[in-house]
Amino acid sequence: MPRTTTHVCSQCGCQSAQWHGQCPDCGEWNTLVEEPVAAVRAHARPGSRRKGADDRARRPAPVPVALREVGAAPVARMSTGIGELDRVLGGGLVPGSLVLLGGSPGIGKSTLTNMVLGHLQGAGHGTLYVSGEESAQQVRLRAERLGPTALAVPVLAETDLDAVLDTLGEQAPQACVIDSVQTLRAADMSSAPGSVAQVREVAARIMEVAKAQGTAVILVGHVTKDGALAGPRVLEHLVDCVLRFEGERERPYRELRALKNRFGSTNEAGLFEMRQGGLVEVLDASARFVAEATRAPGSVVLAAMEGSRPLLVEVQALVAPSELEQPRRVVSGIDRNRLALVLAILGRHGGVSTGGADVFVNVVGGVRVDEPGCDLAVALAVASASRGVATTSFAAGAAGVPRACFGELGLTGELRWVGHPERRLQEAARHGLADVIAPPGSDGRACEAATLREALALALGASARRTGRRAA
Ligand code: TYD
Ligand code: MG
Repeated sequence: MPRTTTHVCSQCGCQSAQWHGQCPDCGEWNTLVEEPVAAVRAHARPGSRRKGADDRARRPAPVPVALREVGAAPVARMSTGIGELDRVLGGGLVPGSLVLLGGSPGIGKSTLTNMVLGHLQGAGHGTLYVSGEESAQQVRLRAERLGPTALAVPVLAETDLDAVLDTLGEQAPQACVIDSVQTLRAADMSSAPGSVAQVREVAARIMEVAKAQGTAVILVGHVTKDGALAGPRVLEHLVDCVLRFEGERERPYRELRALKNRFGSTNEAGLFEMRQGGLVEVLDASARFVAEATRAPGSVVLAAMEGSRPLLVEVQALVAPSELEQPRRVVSGIDRNRLALVLAILGRHGGVSTGGADVFVNVVGGVRVDEPGCDLAVALAVASASRGVATTSFAAGAAGVPRACFGELGLTGELRWVGHPERRLQEAARHGLADVIAPPGSDGRACEAATLREALALALGASARRTGRRAA
Protein backbone atom coordinates (compact mmCIF):
# COMPACT_ATOMS: atom_id res chain seq x y z
CA MET A 1 0.00 0.00 0.00
CA PRO A 2 1.46 3.41 -0.89
CA ARG A 3 2.46 5.66 1.99
CA THR A 4 -0.11 8.36 2.72
CA THR A 5 1.90 10.48 5.12
CA THR A 6 5.48 11.53 5.56
CA HIS A 7 7.33 13.48 8.23
CA VAL A 8 8.70 16.88 7.38
CA CYS A 9 11.13 18.93 9.48
CA SER A 10 9.71 22.37 10.17
CA GLN A 11 13.22 23.81 10.38
CA CYS A 12 14.99 22.54 7.27
CA GLY A 13 12.19 20.87 5.29
CA CYS A 14 13.92 17.48 5.32
CA GLN A 15 11.54 14.52 4.76
CA SER A 16 11.59 11.19 6.47
CA ALA A 17 9.25 8.18 6.32
CA GLN A 18 9.55 7.66 10.06
CA TRP A 19 9.11 10.07 12.90
CA HIS A 20 12.29 10.95 14.76
CA GLY A 21 12.71 12.99 17.90
CA GLN A 22 15.69 14.69 16.27
CA CYS A 23 15.78 15.74 12.63
CA PRO A 24 18.31 13.47 10.86
CA ASP A 25 19.33 16.37 8.62
CA CYS A 26 19.63 19.55 10.70
CA GLY A 27 19.76 17.96 14.15
CA GLU A 28 16.94 20.07 15.64
CA TRP A 29 14.72 18.38 18.24
CA ASN A 30 10.97 17.93 17.99
CA THR A 31 10.66 19.57 14.60
CA LEU A 32 9.30 16.64 12.56
CA VAL A 33 5.59 16.90 11.82
CA GLU A 34 3.40 14.50 9.92
CA GLU A 35 2.16 15.74 6.53
CA PRO A 36 0.10 14.06 3.81
CA VAL A 37 2.29 12.74 0.99
CA ALA A 38 0.30 14.47 -1.74
CA ALA A 39 1.03 17.84 -0.20
CA VAL A 40 4.72 17.21 -0.25
CA ARG A 41 4.78 15.58 -3.62
CA ALA A 42 3.12 18.56 -5.24
CA HIS A 43 6.32 20.33 -4.41
CA ALA A 44 8.76 17.81 -5.74
CA ARG A 45 10.90 19.21 -8.53
CA PRO A 46 9.12 19.16 -11.86
CA GLY A 47 10.40 16.37 -14.06
CA SER A 48 11.66 13.11 -12.68
CA ARG A 49 15.09 11.78 -13.52
CA ARG A 50 13.57 9.53 -16.15
CA LYS A 51 11.77 12.33 -17.92
CA GLY A 52 14.95 14.40 -17.89
CA ALA A 53 16.80 11.61 -19.66
CA ASP A 54 14.15 11.41 -22.39
CA ASP A 55 14.26 15.16 -22.91
CA ARG A 56 18.04 15.19 -23.21
CA ALA A 57 17.91 12.61 -26.00
CA ARG A 58 15.58 14.88 -27.96
CA ARG A 59 17.08 18.38 -27.76
CA PRO A 60 20.60 19.79 -28.28
CA ALA A 61 22.51 20.73 -25.14
CA PRO A 62 22.27 24.44 -24.22
CA VAL A 63 25.52 26.43 -24.53
CA PRO A 64 26.72 28.37 -21.45
CA VAL A 65 27.49 32.09 -21.88
CA ALA A 66 30.28 34.15 -20.30
CA LEU A 67 28.84 36.34 -17.58
CA ARG A 68 29.97 39.55 -19.26
CA GLU A 69 27.83 38.68 -22.27
CA VAL A 70 24.71 38.11 -20.20
CA GLY A 71 22.32 41.00 -20.75
CA ALA A 72 21.34 42.52 -17.42
CA ALA A 73 18.89 45.36 -17.27
CA PRO A 74 19.46 47.62 -14.25
CA VAL A 75 17.17 46.59 -11.38
CA ALA A 76 14.35 49.09 -11.10
CA ARG A 77 13.38 49.99 -7.56
CA MET A 78 10.27 51.38 -5.98
CA SER A 79 10.95 53.69 -3.08
CA THR A 80 8.87 52.69 -0.08
CA GLY A 81 8.86 56.28 1.16
CA ILE A 82 10.66 55.12 4.32
CA GLY A 83 14.35 55.88 3.98
CA GLU A 84 15.55 53.40 6.60
CA LEU A 85 13.62 50.56 4.96
CA ASP A 86 14.85 51.51 1.48
CA ARG A 87 18.42 51.38 2.75
CA VAL A 88 17.98 47.95 4.35
CA LEU A 89 16.38 46.65 1.15
CA GLY A 90 19.35 47.93 -0.83
CA GLY A 91 17.65 50.95 -2.41
CA GLY A 92 13.93 50.15 -2.46
CA LEU A 93 11.52 47.36 -3.32
CA VAL A 94 12.41 45.40 -6.44
CA PRO A 95 9.37 44.67 -8.67
CA GLY A 96 8.53 40.97 -8.71
CA SER A 97 10.63 40.26 -5.62
CA LEU A 98 9.52 38.34 -2.57
CA VAL A 99 10.42 39.79 0.83
CA LEU A 100 9.89 37.92 4.08
CA LEU A 101 9.42 40.20 7.09
CA GLY A 102 9.71 38.43 10.43
CA GLY A 103 9.25 39.68 13.95
CA SER A 104 7.58 38.85 17.23
CA PRO A 105 3.96 39.81 17.84
CA GLY A 106 3.31 43.48 18.53
CA ILE A 107 6.67 44.65 17.23
CA GLY A 108 5.09 46.69 14.42
CA LYS A 109 5.12 44.50 11.31
CA SER A 110 1.57 45.38 10.34
CA THR A 111 2.21 49.04 11.09
CA LEU A 112 5.35 49.11 8.93
CA THR A 113 3.80 47.26 6.00
CA ASN A 114 0.66 49.38 6.12
CA MET A 115 2.79 52.53 6.03
CA VAL A 116 4.81 51.18 3.10
CA LEU A 117 1.70 50.44 1.06
CA GLY A 118 0.29 53.84 1.97
CA HIS A 119 3.37 55.60 0.62
CA LEU A 120 3.42 53.46 -2.53
CA GLN A 121 -0.29 54.05 -3.14
CA GLY A 122 0.28 57.76 -2.67
CA ALA A 123 3.11 57.64 -5.21
CA GLY A 124 0.75 56.18 -7.80
CA HIS A 125 1.57 52.48 -7.50
CA GLY A 126 -1.20 49.91 -7.24
CA THR A 127 -1.18 48.11 -3.87
CA LEU A 128 -3.05 45.38 -2.01
CA TYR A 129 -3.03 44.58 1.70
CA VAL A 130 -4.14 41.02 2.45
CA SER A 131 -4.94 40.51 6.10
CA GLY A 132 -5.48 37.00 7.35
CA GLU A 133 -5.05 37.99 10.95
CA GLU A 134 -7.28 40.97 11.43
CA SER A 135 -10.62 42.01 10.05
CA ALA A 136 -10.82 44.90 7.60
CA GLN A 137 -12.20 47.08 10.43
CA GLN A 138 -9.21 46.34 12.61
CA VAL A 139 -6.85 47.19 9.77
CA ARG A 140 -8.76 50.41 9.24
CA LEU A 141 -8.46 51.36 12.91
CA ARG A 142 -4.69 51.05 12.66
CA ALA A 143 -4.56 52.94 9.39
CA GLU A 144 -6.52 55.79 11.01
CA ARG A 145 -3.64 56.26 13.40
CA LEU A 146 -1.19 56.29 10.51
CA GLY A 147 -2.84 59.09 8.56
CA PRO A 148 -4.65 59.63 5.27
CA THR A 149 -2.07 57.95 2.99
CA ALA A 150 -2.45 54.64 4.86
CA LEU A 151 -6.25 54.84 4.52
CA ALA A 152 -5.97 54.80 0.72
CA VAL A 153 -4.66 51.20 0.69
CA PRO A 154 -7.10 48.58 -0.65
CA VAL A 155 -7.53 45.82 1.91
CA LEU A 156 -8.68 42.22 1.58
CA ALA A 157 -9.43 40.32 4.78
CA GLU A 158 -9.20 36.72 3.63
CA THR A 159 -7.53 33.49 4.64
CA ASP A 160 -8.34 31.34 1.62
CA LEU A 161 -5.32 31.14 -0.66
CA ASP A 162 -7.30 30.68 -3.88
CA ALA A 163 -9.42 33.74 -3.16
CA VAL A 164 -6.28 35.77 -2.45
CA LEU A 165 -4.61 34.56 -5.65
CA ASP A 166 -7.72 35.45 -7.68
CA THR A 167 -7.71 38.98 -6.34
CA LEU A 168 -3.96 39.28 -6.74
CA GLY A 169 -4.23 38.16 -10.36
CA GLU A 170 -7.15 40.43 -11.15
CA GLN A 171 -5.88 43.58 -9.43
CA ALA A 172 -2.25 42.98 -10.48
CA PRO A 173 -0.93 45.49 -7.92
CA GLN A 174 2.69 46.60 -8.01
CA ALA A 175 3.12 45.86 -4.32
CA CYS A 176 1.24 43.45 -2.09
CA VAL A 177 1.49 42.59 1.60
CA ILE A 178 0.41 39.20 2.96
CA ASP A 179 -0.16 39.60 6.70
CA SER A 180 0.65 36.90 7.64
CA VAL A 181 1.84 33.99 5.52
CA GLN A 182 1.00 31.64 8.39
CA THR A 183 -2.70 32.49 8.36
CA LEU A 184 -3.43 31.71 4.70
CA ARG A 185 -4.77 28.28 3.86
CA ALA A 186 -4.66 26.27 0.66
CA ALA A 187 -8.04 24.50 0.56
CA ASP A 188 -6.75 21.42 -1.25
CA MET A 189 -4.44 20.55 1.62
CA SER A 190 -5.70 18.95 4.77
CA SER A 191 -3.04 20.26 7.14
CA ALA A 192 -3.68 23.23 9.38
CA PRO A 193 -2.73 26.81 8.41
CA GLY A 194 0.77 27.61 9.55
CA SER A 195 2.01 24.03 9.12
CA VAL A 196 5.11 23.32 7.08
CA ALA A 197 3.27 22.11 4.01
CA GLN A 198 0.76 24.96 4.11
CA VAL A 199 3.29 27.74 4.52
CA ARG A 200 5.44 26.35 1.75
CA GLU A 201 2.50 25.92 -0.58
CA VAL A 202 1.16 29.41 0.16
CA ALA A 203 4.53 31.06 -0.41
CA ALA A 204 5.27 29.10 -3.59
CA ARG A 205 1.90 29.82 -5.18
CA ILE A 206 1.98 33.49 -4.31
CA MET A 207 5.48 33.71 -5.72
CA GLU A 208 4.35 32.12 -8.97
CA VAL A 209 1.66 34.74 -9.52
CA ALA A 210 3.79 37.62 -8.23
CA LYS A 211 6.79 36.86 -10.45
CA ALA A 212 4.55 36.41 -13.50
CA GLN A 213 2.99 39.86 -13.15
CA GLY A 214 5.89 41.70 -11.51
CA THR A 215 4.24 42.30 -8.14
CA ALA A 216 6.60 42.92 -5.24
CA VAL A 217 5.30 40.87 -2.31
CA ILE A 218 6.06 41.35 1.36
CA LEU A 219 5.23 38.21 3.31
CA VAL A 220 4.82 38.89 7.01
CA GLY A 221 5.91 35.96 9.17
CA HIS A 222 5.83 35.21 12.88
CA VAL A 223 8.93 34.52 14.81
CA THR A 224 9.25 31.81 17.44
CA LYS A 225 10.55 32.42 20.95
CA ASP A 226 14.15 31.64 20.03
CA GLY A 227 14.08 34.12 17.17
CA ALA A 228 13.72 31.76 14.22
CA LEU A 229 11.02 32.40 11.68
CA ALA A 230 8.19 30.06 12.58
CA GLY A 231 7.40 27.56 9.88
CA PRO A 232 9.90 25.95 7.63
CA ARG A 233 13.29 27.41 6.97
CA VAL A 234 12.64 26.49 3.34
CA LEU A 235 10.77 29.77 3.13
CA GLU A 236 14.04 31.59 3.70
CA HIS A 237 15.54 29.82 0.70
CA LEU A 238 12.57 30.64 -1.48
CA VAL A 239 12.37 34.39 -0.96
CA ASP A 240 14.75 37.06 -2.27
CA CYS A 241 15.09 38.95 0.94
CA VAL A 242 14.61 38.11 4.63
CA LEU A 243 14.11 41.04 6.98
CA ARG A 244 13.82 40.85 10.72
CA PHE A 245 12.13 43.45 12.83
CA GLU A 246 13.48 43.36 16.35
CA GLY A 247 13.28 45.24 19.58
CA GLU A 248 11.37 44.97 22.79
CA ARG A 249 7.71 45.66 22.82
CA GLU A 250 7.94 47.77 25.96
CA ARG A 251 10.63 50.01 24.49
CA PRO A 252 10.19 52.53 21.73
CA TYR A 253 13.16 51.59 19.52
CA ARG A 254 12.86 49.02 16.75
CA GLU A 255 15.61 47.71 14.54
CA LEU A 256 15.17 46.36 11.05
CA ARG A 257 17.87 44.04 9.75
CA ALA A 258 18.37 42.10 6.53
CA LEU A 259 19.39 38.47 7.09
CA LYS A 260 19.45 37.68 3.40
CA ASN A 261 19.23 40.03 0.44
CA ARG A 262 19.65 39.10 -3.19
CA PHE A 263 19.52 42.76 -4.18
CA GLY A 264 21.71 44.40 -1.57
CA SER A 265 23.93 44.07 1.45
CA THR A 266 22.93 42.27 4.64
CA ASN A 267 24.98 44.63 6.77
CA GLU A 268 22.51 47.46 6.90
CA ALA A 269 20.18 48.09 9.79
CA GLY A 270 17.40 50.65 10.07
CA LEU A 271 16.32 52.22 13.32
CA PHE A 272 12.74 53.20 14.09
CA GLU A 273 10.77 54.52 17.00
CA MET A 274 7.16 53.50 17.67
CA ARG A 275 5.09 56.61 18.29
CA GLN A 276 1.44 57.52 18.36
CA GLY A 277 1.27 58.09 14.61
CA GLY A 278 3.16 54.94 13.65
CA LEU A 279 6.84 54.21 13.13
CA VAL A 280 9.19 57.14 12.82
CA GLU A 281 12.70 56.78 11.42
CA VAL A 282 15.42 57.62 13.88
CA LEU A 283 17.80 59.49 11.64
CA ASP A 284 20.38 60.69 14.09
CA ALA A 285 20.28 57.91 16.62
CA SER A 286 23.80 58.72 17.87
CA ALA A 287 22.80 62.23 18.96
CA ARG A 288 19.90 60.85 20.91
CA PHE A 289 21.83 58.08 22.64
CA VAL A 290 24.72 60.39 23.55
CA ALA A 291 22.32 63.00 24.94
CA GLU A 292 20.63 60.31 27.04
CA ALA A 293 23.91 58.75 28.23
CA THR A 294 24.44 59.04 31.96
CA ARG A 295 27.86 59.80 33.35
CA ALA A 296 27.34 57.52 36.31
CA PRO A 297 29.65 54.62 37.12
CA GLY A 298 28.84 51.64 34.91
CA SER A 299 28.12 53.63 31.77
CA VAL A 300 30.24 54.02 28.66
CA VAL A 301 29.49 54.97 25.06
CA LEU A 302 30.31 52.43 22.36
CA ALA A 303 31.28 53.75 18.94
CA ALA A 304 29.73 50.87 17.00
CA MET A 305 29.26 50.16 13.31
CA GLU A 306 25.79 49.24 12.13
CA GLY A 307 26.59 47.96 8.67
CA SER A 308 28.09 50.88 6.80
CA ARG A 309 26.92 53.42 9.36
CA PRO A 310 28.59 54.43 12.62
CA LEU A 311 26.33 54.53 15.67
CA LEU A 312 27.05 55.71 19.19
CA VAL A 313 25.18 53.69 21.82
CA GLU A 314 25.38 53.65 25.58
CA VAL A 315 26.41 50.39 27.25
CA GLN A 316 25.45 50.10 30.91
CA ALA A 317 26.53 47.57 33.48
CA LEU A 318 25.53 46.76 37.02
CA VAL A 319 27.65 44.59 39.29
CA ALA A 320 26.01 43.57 42.54
CA PRO A 321 26.81 41.00 45.22
CA SER A 322 25.01 37.76 44.54
CA GLU A 323 23.14 35.48 46.89
CA LEU A 324 23.17 32.71 44.36
CA GLU A 325 25.56 29.81 44.09
CA GLN A 326 25.87 30.60 40.40
CA PRO A 327 25.79 34.38 40.05
CA ARG A 328 23.54 35.79 37.37
CA ARG A 329 24.79 36.99 34.00
CA VAL A 330 22.04 38.95 32.34
CA VAL A 331 22.51 40.68 28.99
CA SER A 332 20.36 42.71 26.66
CA GLY A 333 21.65 43.83 23.29
CA ILE A 334 24.87 41.78 23.32
CA ASP A 335 25.66 38.11 23.10
CA ARG A 336 25.69 36.26 26.44
CA ASN A 337 28.79 34.27 25.52
CA ARG A 338 30.57 37.47 24.64
CA LEU A 339 29.94 38.72 28.19
CA ALA A 340 31.32 35.48 29.65
CA LEU A 341 34.47 35.94 27.57
CA VAL A 342 34.88 39.60 28.53
CA LEU A 343 34.40 38.79 32.25
CA ALA A 344 37.04 36.09 32.03
CA ILE A 345 39.50 38.47 30.35
CA LEU A 346 38.67 41.20 32.88
CA GLY A 347 39.39 38.82 35.73
CA ARG A 348 42.57 37.41 34.28
CA HIS A 349 44.10 40.47 32.61
CA GLY A 350 42.31 43.49 34.07
CA GLY A 351 42.32 42.72 37.77
CA VAL A 352 38.54 43.04 37.92
CA SER A 353 37.02 39.97 39.50
CA THR A 354 33.28 39.43 39.26
CA GLY A 355 33.19 35.85 40.47
CA GLY A 356 30.84 36.41 43.40
CA ALA A 357 28.67 39.08 41.81
CA ASP A 358 25.64 39.25 39.57
CA VAL A 359 26.50 41.07 36.35
CA PHE A 360 23.92 42.83 34.21
CA VAL A 361 24.85 44.43 30.89
CA ASN A 362 22.42 46.42 28.80
CA VAL A 363 22.72 48.28 25.52
CA VAL A 364 20.42 51.24 26.07
CA GLY A 365 17.37 51.74 23.86
CA GLY A 366 16.93 48.06 23.04
CA VAL A 367 19.54 48.22 20.27
CA ARG A 368 21.56 45.09 19.46
CA VAL A 369 25.26 45.32 18.77
CA ASP A 370 26.60 42.23 17.10
CA GLU A 371 30.20 43.08 16.45
CA PRO A 372 33.55 42.35 18.09
CA GLY A 373 34.16 46.08 18.58
CA CYS A 374 31.79 46.01 21.57
CA ASP A 375 34.17 44.02 23.82
CA LEU A 376 36.02 46.99 25.24
CA ALA A 377 32.81 48.89 26.00
CA VAL A 378 31.43 45.91 27.91
CA ALA A 379 34.69 45.53 29.81
CA LEU A 380 34.89 49.23 30.73
CA ALA A 381 31.24 49.37 31.77
CA VAL A 382 31.63 46.33 34.03
CA ALA A 383 34.93 47.58 35.51
CA SER A 384 33.45 51.02 36.07
CA ALA A 385 30.37 49.54 37.77
CA SER A 386 32.44 47.17 39.83
CA ARG A 387 34.71 49.94 41.11
CA GLY A 388 32.06 52.62 41.38
CA VAL A 389 34.18 55.01 39.30
CA ALA A 390 32.70 56.85 36.32
CA THR A 391 34.46 56.68 32.94
CA THR A 392 33.64 60.31 32.15
CA SER A 393 36.18 62.19 30.05
CA PHE A 394 37.21 65.68 31.17
CA ALA A 395 39.27 66.48 28.08
CA ALA A 396 36.58 68.73 26.64
CA GLY A 397 36.10 70.78 29.82
CA ALA A 398 35.41 70.62 33.50
CA ALA A 399 31.81 69.45 33.03
CA GLY A 400 32.99 66.25 31.39
CA VAL A 401 31.43 64.25 28.56
CA PRO A 402 30.51 60.57 28.36
CA ARG A 403 33.47 58.38 27.53
CA ALA A 404 33.47 56.63 24.17
CA CYS A 405 35.44 53.55 23.19
CA PHE A 406 35.62 50.60 20.81
CA GLY A 407 37.84 47.59 20.24
CA GLU A 408 37.96 43.84 20.40
CA LEU A 409 39.59 42.03 23.31
CA GLY A 410 42.02 39.20 22.63
CA LEU A 411 42.29 36.25 25.00
CA THR A 412 45.68 37.44 26.18
CA GLY A 413 44.30 40.80 27.25
CA GLU A 414 45.39 42.76 24.18
CA LEU A 415 43.18 45.27 22.44
CA ARG A 416 42.65 44.41 18.80
CA TRP A 417 41.99 46.56 15.76
CA VAL A 418 38.42 46.58 14.42
CA GLY A 419 37.01 47.83 11.12
CA HIS A 420 36.37 51.49 10.23
CA PRO A 421 38.16 53.17 13.16
CA GLU A 422 38.18 56.52 11.34
CA ARG A 423 34.41 56.53 10.84
CA ARG A 424 33.79 55.62 14.47
CA LEU A 425 36.11 58.40 15.65
CA GLN A 426 34.52 60.88 13.27
CA GLU A 427 31.08 60.06 14.66
CA ALA A 428 32.34 60.47 18.23
CA ALA A 429 33.95 63.82 17.36
CA ARG A 430 30.76 64.97 15.65
CA HIS A 431 28.91 64.48 18.93
CA GLY A 432 31.52 66.19 21.04
CA LEU A 433 33.08 63.08 22.55
CA ALA A 434 36.80 63.53 22.99
CA ASP A 435 39.33 61.05 24.35
CA VAL A 436 37.96 57.98 22.61
CA ILE A 437 39.76 54.85 23.80
CA ALA A 438 40.66 52.76 20.77
CA PRO A 439 42.98 49.92 19.75
CA PRO A 440 46.43 50.67 18.29
CA GLY A 441 46.53 51.72 14.64
CA SER A 442 43.11 53.36 14.80
CA ASP A 443 43.89 57.01 14.17
CA GLY A 444 46.09 59.76 15.53
CA ARG A 445 43.11 61.42 17.21
CA ALA A 446 42.27 58.51 19.52
CA CYS A 447 43.63 57.61 22.95
CA GLU A 448 45.22 54.38 21.87
CA ALA A 449 45.62 51.53 24.31
CA ALA A 450 47.47 48.34 23.48
CA THR A 451 46.02 46.26 26.29
CA LEU A 452 42.92 46.05 28.44
CA ARG A 453 44.97 47.19 31.43
CA GLU A 454 46.03 50.38 29.61
CA ALA A 455 42.46 51.03 28.57
CA LEU A 456 41.26 50.61 32.16
CA ALA A 457 43.91 53.04 33.37
CA LEU A 458 42.83 55.59 30.75
CA ALA A 459 39.13 55.28 31.55
CA LEU A 460 39.17 54.85 35.31
CA GLY A 461 42.40 56.59 36.22
CA ALA A 462 44.36 55.59 39.31
CA SER A 463 41.60 53.36 40.61
CA ALA A 464 42.38 50.93 37.81
CA ARG A 465 45.51 49.97 39.63
CA ARG A 466 43.58 48.69 42.60
CA THR A 467 43.29 45.07 41.71
CA GLY A 468 41.33 42.06 42.77
CA ARG A 469 38.72 43.99 44.73
CA ARG A 470 35.37 42.32 44.69
CA ALA A 471 32.23 44.28 44.09
CA ALA A 472 30.83 45.14 47.47
P1 TYD B 1 1.39 45.97 15.01
O1 TYD B 1 1.88 46.64 13.79
O2 TYD B 1 -0.01 45.47 14.97
O3 TYD B 1 2.37 44.78 15.40
P2 TYD B 1 2.57 43.35 14.68
O4 TYD B 1 1.86 43.36 13.36
O5 TYD B 1 4.05 43.17 14.52
O6 TYD B 1 2.02 42.32 15.61
O7 TYD B 1 1.50 47.03 16.22
C1 TYD B 1 2.35 46.91 17.28
C2 TYD B 1 2.09 47.86 18.41
O8 TYD B 1 2.35 49.19 18.07
C3 TYD B 1 0.67 47.84 18.96
O9 TYD B 1 0.72 47.32 20.27
C4 TYD B 1 0.24 49.27 19.01
C5 TYD B 1 1.47 50.07 18.72
N1 TYD B 1 1.22 51.24 17.88
C6 TYD B 1 1.65 52.49 18.30
O10 TYD B 1 2.22 52.65 19.37
N2 TYD B 1 1.43 53.58 17.49
C7 TYD B 1 0.80 53.47 16.28
O11 TYD B 1 0.63 54.47 15.57
C8 TYD B 1 0.37 52.17 15.87
C9 TYD B 1 -0.33 51.99 14.55
C10 TYD B 1 0.60 51.10 16.67
MG1 MG C 1 0.21 42.22 12.76
